Amino acid sequence: MSELNNIVLKILSNGKGILAADESTGTMTKRLNAVNVESTPENRLLFRETLFLSESMKKCIGGVILYDETIKQNSKSKTIPELISSCGTVPGIKVDTGAKILAGSPDEKITEGLDGLRERLKVYHKLGARFTKWRAVYIISDKYPSKLSVDSNAQALARYSALVQESGMVPIVEPEVLMDGDHSADECLVKTTEVIKKCFEELNNNNVDLTGVILKPNMILPGNRSSKKISNEEIAKLTLKCLKDSVPKEVPGIAFLSGGQTEIEATKNLNLINKYNDTNFIMSYSYGRALQQGAINFWSKDIKNIEGTQKIFNHRANMCSLAAQGKWSKELEEK
Ligand code: 13P
Repeated sequence: MSELNNIVLKILSNGKGILAADESTGTMTKRLNAVNVESTPENRLLFRETLFLSESMKKCIGGVILYDETIKQNSKSKTIPELISSCGTVPGIKVDTGAKILAGSPDEKITEGLDGLRERLKVYHKLGARFTKWRAVYIISDKYPSKLSVDSNAQALARYSALVQESGMVPIVEPEVLMDGDHSADECLVKTTEVIKKCFEELNNNNVDLTGVILKPNMILPGNRSSKKISNEEIAKLTLKCLKDSVPKEVPGIAFLSGGQTEIEATKNLNLINKYNDTNFIMSYSYGRALQQGAINFWSKDIKNIEGTQKIFNHRANMCSLAAQGKWSKELEEK
């Protein structure tokens, strides 16, 4: 097996998943301000370091996605990538520079960051990163996502992936079809399948080694303003249908984003996906909010209470890890 495939397996095997702690400074400021904490480099580090020093890192977190600011920060005598590696966890880095208005279809977004990427990747590899993330976003309505958005974001994801593999790192390919809107789950299924298929068409055009890639998709959900809610079982089945129809068999691992689901919903849905999983794909998590929300709420009330914050994070990480193996239950959640 290739070195890249080994990295994927190290990140996602044995019920491990990914902690997405790569919020840009703007997003992290929103998250901190929402809980009345001032967004300074010190506070951003303090919260993240609290998670990285938690007991559950070793057992549940195979990879951490960092933001540019954090990968260059230090925790006592260690750099942050050294701290993460010391848990047996792989440090990763967000390398896109954000989703900007798509010229030609200004309601939609195109993710930027290809210019100078080869040189930035060299720097991140030297700092200890062994995998990367690039997030494309798509909206759903009767006319969106447009062909322009589907094609141009897939091309960017593929060019990014080829550059990342050239630099000896694993690309996370994240095409996020947003849950905002009043669309049905069936519409989400059709559009997400189209988006992912196009991504793999472009990855193949760019000679990307699919055994060294992690796909980070959304689950198949009705829009957050839809009146047609569906059960967790249906969400799991539609999500599996989508991935079976769109993801080539060579891809070793899929790590879902939580995308605005609550912590419990994201855990429950992942658990059912694994219960029904009749594919060879590892199905795990790459959660931001669904791993951190409870911890940040608690921490914000007393930022010196490291132990209490870690307890909440450990429980959440343990529940997600159980869900990644289809072993989660309501009883264990409430224990
Ligand atoms: P959420 O799980 O909060 O959606 O974040 C995952 C992520 O990394 C988005 O790019």
